[in-house]
Amino acid sequence: MKIGIHDLDVATTHFVLKLDSMAEALGVDPGKYHMGLGQDEFSVPAPDEDVVTMAAEAATRLLSRNDASKIRMVLFATETGIDQSKAAGVFVHGLLGLPNAVRTVEFKQACYSGTAALQTAVNHVARYPEDQVLVIASDIARYAVDSGGEPTQGAGAVAMLIAADPSILEIEPDSGVYTADVNDFWRPNDSSTPFVEGKLSLDAYMDATLGAWDDLVARRGIEISDIHRFLHHQPFTKMARKAHAKLAEHLGVELGADLIEESMTYNRRVGNSYTASLYFGLVAQLQGNDDLAGKRLGLFSYGSGSVSEFFTGIVQPGYAEHLHADNVAESLDSRVELSFEEYRERHNAYVGSSDNNETEKVTDAPFRFSGVIDHVRQYEAN
Ligand code: COA
Repeated sequence: MKIGIHDLDVATTHFVLKLDSMAEALGVDPGKYHMGLGQDEFSVPAPDEDVVTMAAEAATRLLSRNDASKIRMVLFATETGIDQSKAAGVFVHGLLGLPNAVRTVEFKQACYSGTAALQTAVNHVARYPEDQVLVIASDIARYAVDSGGEPTQGAGAVAMLIAADPSILEIEPDSGVYTADVNDFWRPNDSSTPFVEGKLSLDAYMDATLGAWDDLVARRGIEISDIHRFLHHQPFTKMARKAHAKLAEHLGVELGADLIEESMTYNRRVGNSYTASLYFGLVAQLQGNDDLAGKRLGLFSYGSGSVSEFFTGIVQPGYAEHLHADNVAESLDSRVELSFEEYRERHNAYVGSSDNNETEKVTDAPFRFSGVIDHVRQYEAN
């Protein structure tokens, strides 16, 4: 039985900052951002947007084309947790009006957990083939101002429906996995921005790429030439190029940049969306110029700390007709541009407390975060 991604959709934020504005304001050569990091702009959330509103937007579009009564689980992957106890997915479940007979839970392991959720969903459907699982990866990458990570910020959500006999991508059994205890990136409970050992994180990512690949080979005996296109997690798109080159060097083969090029189109513009980043890469690849029907994709998911997975999927015949996320470029184009000063003002005005507050009404997305009453986060349809 084939199991995999039957449908998917994406959402991002109301605002955007162009990295040219940041370069000018900080006196940095824009080439560092465009070529050195491979980033052009990043999504900036309005005060009434968060991981729940982005997730609900992506999922509501997805469900408008599918039968929600088949959904048995909602798995919400994020490292931008809004509560230490209640899963963000429960808010989304409520906003979408899903049936009560649903299991909802949150997954966390830095940028990797979207893949853990996806694999859990696939395993569920293997046991209960009539069920479908809604997997949502939603994150806001918010770094300290003037830190190395600041130009690599971003925000976005990808919602995926996992089902038997999928229309888009069959997830093949058996992947390569790799866990190594490394302190390259972490966010303690009392900090709204992460602590990052930037250079260490690059090395940890590349060690994990090779470790997960070698495990995939040990499990499956797969050859690098069995893979038609590679999608690497993209905290900034240059990272995918580095990992790709490292893998080629490790195997002593040529792996052209064309094998990853199309997967980077959206992440250059969304910025880092952590758990969602690999899946924005997938949407971009599927919307590229190549006819991928019947072709195998190799996906590498990395989450600092670190846990990673190299897995593969076969693009399904007729996938292009089932790709409804054709609004991505349009929704990126329609973000409202901030000046560098406006962006910094919003960044510094971030409210992380659960004291009573009412958020400024800004977003025109389908759902908004309206504030906090008696420590309870409030959401409403727009
Ligand atoms: N034109 C073109 N390229 C330029 C340039 C210019 N004018 N100026 C610098 N560069 C290049 C550098 O040569 C470097 O390329 P390389 O990595 O291929 O050597 C790249 O731009 C980045 O420059 P660097 O000085 O290393 O940047 P930085 O010290 O500001 O930090 C990170 C870069 C990635 C460490 C930082 O953005 C970070 O901490 N990010 C968050 C952590 C992260 O995402 N980790 C990834 C794994 S999860």
